[in-house]
Parts: sequence; structure tokens; C-alpha cells
Amino acid sequence: MAFIKDIGVYLGEEVELKGWAYNFRSSGKIFFLQLRDGSGRVQVVYSNASIPEDQWNALQTLRIESSVVVHGKVKEDSRSPSGFELDGVSFEIVQLAGEEYPISKKEHGPDFLLDERHLWLRSERQWAILRVRDRIITSTYEWMHENGFVKFDTPILTPTSCEGTTELFEMDYFDDGVKAYLAQSGQLYLEAGIMSLGRAFDFGPVFRAEKSKTRRHLTEFWMMDAEAAFVEHDENMKIQEELIVRIVKDVLEKNSSELKVLERDIEPLKKVLAPFVRLTHVQAIEKLRGLGSDIGDRADLGADDETLLTQQFDRPIFIEKYPAEVKAFYMKRDPNAPNLVLNNDLLAPEGYGEIIGGSQREDDLDTLLQRMKEHNLPLEPFEWYVDLRRFGSVPHSGFGFGLERIVGWICGLHHVRETIPFPRMINRLKP
Ligand code: 4AD
Ligand code: MG
Repeated sequence: MAFIKDIGVYLGEEVELKGWAYNFRSSGKIFFLQLRDGSGRVQVVYSNASIPEDQWNALQTLRIESSVVVHGKVKEDSRSPSGFELDGVSFEIVQLAGEEYPISKKEHGPDFLLDERHLWLRSERQWAILRVRDRIITSTYEWMHENGFVKFDTPILTPTSCEGTTELFEMDYFDDGVKAYLAQSGQLYLEAGIMSLGRAFDFGPVFRAEKSKTRRHLTEFWMMDAEAAFVEHDENMKIQEELIVRIVKDVLEKNSSELKVLERDIEPLKKVLAPFVRLTHVQAIEKLRGLGSDIGDRADLGADDETLLTQQFDRPIFIEKYPAEVKAFYMKRDPNAPNLVLNNDLLAPEGYGEIIGGSQREDDLDTLLQRMKEHNLPLEPFEWYVDLRRFGSVPHSGFGFGLERIVGWICGLHHVRETIPFPRMINRLKP
């Protein structure tokens, strides 16, 4: 058996392909079968003179999305996207699909398509997105490993919250009425990991009980958290910059056909090079006001502000040093401005907004205890975290990226719901 992606290797030879009929048409004596096998798409052309009669008859009964096995001779074809086509010599149906394939060529609404997500995944656009997602994951692992980060798997069931309590999924299961929560980020555990490994990252699903329905929010999404010992705020941003540049470069190099399927304008992606734009929160507010926003001096940036800002530059934008009161308890204060934190968000260009949140962490025992008090956090479940400041505490920093936000940006998608195989949102748990 051969794969369509390698078809050129077999030029002039006969190959066997196994896959699905995504389309077909017939002109009496010639039958054009559009075949996909997961690795690519190719046309197989049959003439009734070139295959046995029973197989020709089987072709006439074909239905969309039936699974099939074909044999054919590979020849060049300049009109086909792959550059090749097959002269069919045999045809066999593995399973004849039901009569009405629910997804047709006509326009379907997003709710209908999401209900049919298990089938929608087969369409060419979704196929392309899934492959770009896989490339982003692979490039992330590669870059992290090349730069000394070790994969460290953080737990999903946790006794505490990492990013505040408003978006927590809570459950009763454990003894003594102890509440458990689904992880919002593996960060706090990674901080323990780096005291063993120096540099570590996790990559897995996290959960946020988002009350809002926006095109950027999922209830279950994949986060890559990275953490590094002896890395301070500026170096933390450098790491993020290099990683993002690498991911975009790899997708441009290795997924050009997928980007073409998605009709993604790649010119803006080619401009994703170091150095990224750097603005402090104060500078960002100033700029936003100049653009007509009424954002407050010490406010967090909303989605509209982010969109506005990213339209001003053609590179990603770091916004650093936010007011402490709008950010998490673990962030280290700026020694030169103690009401600010040594944090950064990274905004993707073209209006896509925040793809990364990161910061230097508070590493001093007494200061951390003070911050926890200010945030009304109970000491007992965080004892282990505080311990990290008792035994060989070091300056350290990290960040977390939202995989779906990055996929959405790079693929040029309007909504994150298409970036993950089975999206979960406040109004969607099916299929
Ligand atoms: O900015 P966040 O909340 O940062 C953290 O959780 C830190 N503990 C990470 C760290 O320092 N290790 O989330 C990180 C990223 C955001 O920048 C965004 O890209 C994504 O996660 N994200 C979401 N993506 C989809 N749906 C949601 N509801 C998201 N919430 C955050
Ligand atoms: Mg954030």
C-alpha cells in the first residue's frame, strides 16, 4: 500500500491506495474518483474499457465517503494540486457509505457543522487545520528539547487554583469533603519540576469555566507551560520570542499546502521575526487612548483593546509590566516600580490578540506569604508551593501558551472552535 503524499515516487508504476471517496463524477464511459487517504488527495480516472465489468458496475453504485481500495498507474498531471493522477486499473468498495452524507457542498451553519464534528473533521479545511496543529505541537517539542527543557507532566486534578477562582471546575470525590479542581494551568507544579530539572515544560489539556462566549475562549483547551530556573523577566520574553519565530517558520516551510487549502495570506506570517514589538502596559494604554479607546490607567486589556493594538504593528507585541492588582499572586514585583509586576502578555498580529501569558515568579518566602495573604489564599493547600521558597529558592520565570489561539492565528481562522478536534464551550459538549 502507498500513501498519496508519496505518490510522485511511484511515477509510471502501479500502486495500491486505500482511503475514502470524497467526490466523484461520471461522463458515461469515464469515471473520475476523488480519493483521499489522510495523507493527501488525488484523482483516479477509470474508463469502462480498462477495468473488469463488475468493478465498473461497483463504481456506478459509489456514494460519498465510502471507503475504497484502488489500484492505478501513476502519471503526471499538471492540473492536479499534487501534480499527479492515477489511471485506475482496479476498484473495490470496503464499505458502501449510507445514502445521505450529512455534509454536502452547500453552505452549512456553524452549529450544524459542530453537531457533525465527527464527520466534519474529514473535510479538506479541517484536515489542513489538524495538520497545522500537529506541526505546531511537534515544533514546540523540538524547540523546547533543543533548548534544554524537559517534559514534565503536571496533574489535572488539583486541590488549588492557579489562575484565580472565578473560572474553576469543582468536583466532590475525595475523602473528608476535600474539593478537587480541574487544572487551569500546570505552572505551580512546573515550578516544583524545575527545582529538579532546571528547565521544564508541560503540554496538555486545561480547563476554564469561562462564562463568556467569545471567539477566543474554550472551556477545555491545550496549554504549553514552560518554566526555567535562573531565568529573569527579559530572558523569559526572549525564550517566548524564539519559540514563536520557530513555530511560524516551521509551519511556513512544512505546511505550505495546508495554508493554501486554508487560503491563508502568508505575507503577514513571513514578517513574524525577532525582535517583536515591546510595550510596557503604560505605553500600551497611552497608545490605545490615542486610538480612541477609553481604557482606564490600571486596567487589564480587553479583547477589543488587543485587536486595536495588534492592527498597528506587523509583528507580535509583548506588553509587559502590568499593574499588580490585575494579575496573579505569584508574579514578582518590578523592583523599580513595586505596584507593577514583571510579567508579559504576547499578542499575535492581525487582530488575533493574546497567545501567551508569562512572568517572573516571586521567589522570596516572606514576600510570597504576604501576597497570598493579600489574595486571601489559604496556606495549607499551598504549603508545598511555599516550600519551594524554603529550600534553595532561585529567580525563575515561565509562561503558558494557548495552543488553539496559536493555531487560530497561524491558520487565519475567525473562531477557535475549529482549532481543536472536539471543542468544548459553555454551550457545547457534543459530540
Ligand atoms: O494567561 P493565562 O491565564 O496564563 C496562565 O495560566 C499562566 N499560569 C501560564 C504560565 O505562566 N505558565 O493563560 C495562558 C494562555 C493565554 O495567553 C491564552 O493563549 C490561553 O492560555 N488561554 C485560552 N485559550 C483558549 N480558551 C481559553 N479560555 C483560554 N484562556 C487562556
Ligand atoms: Mg492571560
